[in-house]
Formats: sequence, C-alpha cells, structure tokens
Amino acid sequence: MTTPPAHYGYGFVGYQNLHNDIYPAITASITPALQQPGKVVLVTGAGRGIGRSIALQYAHASVAAIVLCARTSSELDEVAVSIQKINSTIRVHKRPIDVTKDDAVKTLAQDVQRDEGRLDILVNNAGASAPWVHLTASDSSSWWNTFEVNLKGSYLFLQAFLSLLVLTAEKGNTTVDVVNVSSMGAHVVSPGASAYQISKLAVLRLSEFVNVEYGAKGVNTVSLHPGGVPTALGTQEESIRPYLIDTAELCGGFVVWLTAEPRTWLAGRYVSATWDVDVLESMRDGIVKEDKLKMFMSV
Ligand SMILES: NC(=O)c1ccc[n+]([C@@H]2O[C@H](COP(=O)([O-])OP(=O)(O)OC[C@H]3O[C@@H](n4cnc5c(N)ncnc54)[C@H](OP(=O)(O)O)[C@@H]3O)[C@@H](O)[C@H]2O)c1
Repeated sequence: MTTPPAHYGYGFVGYQNLHNDIYPAITASITPALQQPGKVVLVTGAGRGIGRSIALQYAHASVAAIVLCARTSSELDEVAVSIQKINSTIRVHKRPIDVTKDDAVKTLAQDVQRDEGRLDILVNNAGASAPWVHLTASDSSSWWNTFEVNLKGSYLFLQAFLSLLVLTAEKGNTTVDVVNVSSMGAHVVSPGASAYQISKLAVLRLSEFVNVEYGAKGVNTVSLHPGGVPTALGTQEESIRPYLIDTAELCGGFVVWLTAEPRTWLAGRYVSATWDVDVLESMRDGIVKEDKLKMFMSV
C-alpha cells in the first residue's frame, strides 16, 4: 500500500503509533480511569458494526444507561442482550427508528428526557453510502439519501438533544460529549465517492458549528474517523476492502477514552481512532496552539 498524503491525517501521530485493535489504554474492562458510572449514552447506528462496538465498550465502562438506535429491531435486541451480559445493571433503551425522520427523533428526545432526565454522551454514528459511481451514473435519490443519513441524521439528533446535553452539563457543572462519526474519506476526493465523502466533510464542519455555538455551554464535540473496519457498510465498496484492517473494538475503546474526562482541547477537531491516545495527548499543546485538526483552506 502506498503512503497516503499528509493531509489525510492518517499518520498524524506517527506511523509507528497507529493501532489496528483495542489496547489497554482504551480498554474500560481493565483500565479503571475509563469507568463512567452515572452517565447516559445514546448511540445511533448501534445495531451492528462500529456502533455496536461503541455501545458494548460503554457497557464495560459501567455507564448508567445506553440508548440504542437503528432501524433493525432484531439487531438492537442482540446488542441489548450483549450489554446485559457484560453488566446487567445498565438500563438499555432500544429505539428502532430512522435517523432521518424528524418526528421520530424529537419523540425519542422527549422520552429520554422523561425516562433518564439527562444525556451525557451523544454518538452520531449511523451512516450510509451510495454506490461509488461517477456523477452521471449516480442515482439521485441514493446520492441524496447518503446526505440524509450522514448529515441530516446527525443534525436532527443535535437539534433534538442539545438542550438536554446543555442542561446535563449545567446541572452537573461538567462537560458532556458529542462524537460525530465522520471518516478519513472527508479528506479524500476519490472518483465515484462524491456523496459519501462530501457528506462526511460536512460532518466535520457541523462539529465545528456545535463547538462555536455550544462549547462554552459545556458541550465538547469531536469528529471521528473510526478506522477502516470490515463492516456491512465498509465492505460495500470493493476498492477500499484492502484498507479495512481495523477492528470495531478499536473505535469502541477510543470513543470511551474520548469521553472519560473533559478533553476540551479536542473540541471541534477531527481525530482518528487509530491514533495512539498517549501520543495524541503528548501533542496537545501543539494541536491547540496551531489550531490543528480543523478544516482550513490552504492559501
Ligand atoms: N467501516 C468503516 O471502515 C468506516 C470508515 C469510516 C467511517 N465509517 C462510519 O462509521 C459509521 C458506522 O458504520 P459501520 O461501518 O459500522 O456500518 P454498519 O455496520 O453497516 O452499521 C451502520 C449502522 O447505521 C444504521 N443506519 C443506517 N441507516 C440508518 C437510518 N436511516 N436510520 C437509523 N440507523 C441507520 C444501521 O442500522 P439499520 O440499517 O438497521 O438502520 C447500522 O446499525 C458510519 O457513519 C460510517 O460512515 C465507517
């Protein structure tokens, strides 16, 4: 495989400091500092793949409640059972909803407010991709549906849940977290991938907007590349299959690490689950000083 250009961010922490699988510093079951009792977590796209792994790693982190969203009920059932096997005290809420439906998301927000009264962590992970074909060969509804799931879905959850997130931060005099799952594809222009890569680029900017509008109110928002993972979505496009070398557990652990303490120095920024967290922390001052890991036009 050839080395990707620097602006993809792949080797940001140094190629020798990349991970493909979960490791002790991000494994809640063996690292007490990652425990997050009392927190309420919501994960979209939680039925399989990366979202499922994020939910299970939060179970290992002993959170109080996990809200699971996706359209396929049977997959949510399986994840709920797996959570209960890890920790039977966790309250699990299964919501088989489509993230693109405004009313369903609003109703869910009312229900979480009623049932839990707080939200500490929102993970916008549900994702979709139109087939990778050049523009003239693309199907407009499939192209636009990619934006509906990746961008509108994230927007709807932010619109519906930011009030509760802010309230939770205010009441606890603490920081709450939003993790918007983007992709390294946000930095790439691959012929055929316009719908997916533009929608994931927009997610980066969406995170920056959440940060400038709600960061001072205690909402810490990051955009995340979850790694290259051989999931149903990832394997859809044949040309990228050789790059799917990471486990879903790597991302699950990384997200738990992100929210284990207020990491406001990452607010509004892009991070990759493949980056070693200790090396990333050691780069903190330079990242903040030079305002790295955000979108700027090169002039
Ligand atoms: N795999 C990779 O290598 C990779 C790389 C970069 C970024 N990502 C991103 O990682 C995220 C997770 O993807 P994955 O690879 O884990 O794929 P996956 O295994 O196919 O999971 C996608 C999840 O999103 C849910 N979803 C899709 N459309 C939805 C909708 N309209 N409403 C509600 N839920 C919906 C799916 O459930 P239902 O179909 O049941 O609704 C499923 O739970 C995505 O945002 C993806 O773009 C993945």
